[in-house]
Amino acid sequence: MADERDDAAPGSPIGPRGPENYAERFLKDFRKYRGGDTGEVIIGGHVRATLALPSRIERHPRLVIPGEPATIEAARASLAEGPLILEVGSGFGRFLNGLAVLRPDARLLGCETRLGFCIKGLRKADRHGATNLWMAWGDARVTIPAIVPPGTAAEAYLLYPDPWWKRKHARRRHGPVMATVLADALAPGGLLVLKSDVEPYLAAMVESFAETGRYDAGTPPSELPLTDRELRLHRTGTKAFTAALIRR
Ligand SMILES: C[S@@+](CC[C@H](N)C(=O)[O-])C[C@H]1O[C@@H](n2cnc3c(N)ncnc32)[C@H](O)[C@@H]1O
Repeated sequence: MADERDDAAPGSPIGPRGPENYAERFLKDFRKYRGGDTGEVIIGGHVRATLALPSRIERHPRLVIPGEPATIEAARASLAEGPLILEVGSGFGRFLNGLAVLRPDARLLGCETRLGFCIKGLRKADRHGATNLWMAWGDARVTIPAIVPPGTAAEAYLLYPDPWWKRKHARRRHGPVMATVLADALAPGGLLVLKSDVEPYLAAMVESFAETGRYDAGTPPSELPLTDRELRLHRTGTKAFTAALIRR
């Protein structure tokens, strides 16, 4: 995401100027990045996983703070109580909150690098009593292995990840490291859904995830709640693309 402010809509590269020209201005020039020797990087570095909650931020009982082991333990205990659904890059949490309503039996864990977005998603959940929704602050490649016991998640969603257009940020794109983290977390037969409005990025993710040898092709569910980004894409008539993988 180009705009690092917490009040920008998830994925908005244009902030307050509105999404109207998004497709025209930004859905171009996607260059595939193979990662070379170094591969994808953890956003904020591993050191972020040791951070405590900044004192200005109000604590939330369902917020996982990687630097505070008690919050990890609390999440693990609660998330074990039902079928577990993961989302990487939850943004403002529209999708996960929609799913929480549709699937009251499930336990939902959203992973989001931006603390302000985690809090927004949790406040939304509080407003409709979705106590089955948790948020983990930090890069999902670090938080998921810390929280989710291997082979226990039923479903995972990676929806409209930032394309990281700039060459210097391309290593933040999702590749084999994220693929492996999600494969480790999913139970055999578990479903992974990927969506993007940048078709070559979706194709690159599918290719690199499949190359791990941990997935087979699957069928996406016909109806899912909208994400915040998807809502904007619908309004602007921008095409979106979906893929599904099944954990071997
Ligand atoms: C383009 S936004 C899409 C948000 C939401 N899925 C939607 O469709 O509205 C991508 C989100 O993923 C978050 N993100 C990017 N890389 C991440 C990572 N490795 N782990 C967790 N969150 C990540 C960003 O902070 C951002 O909020």
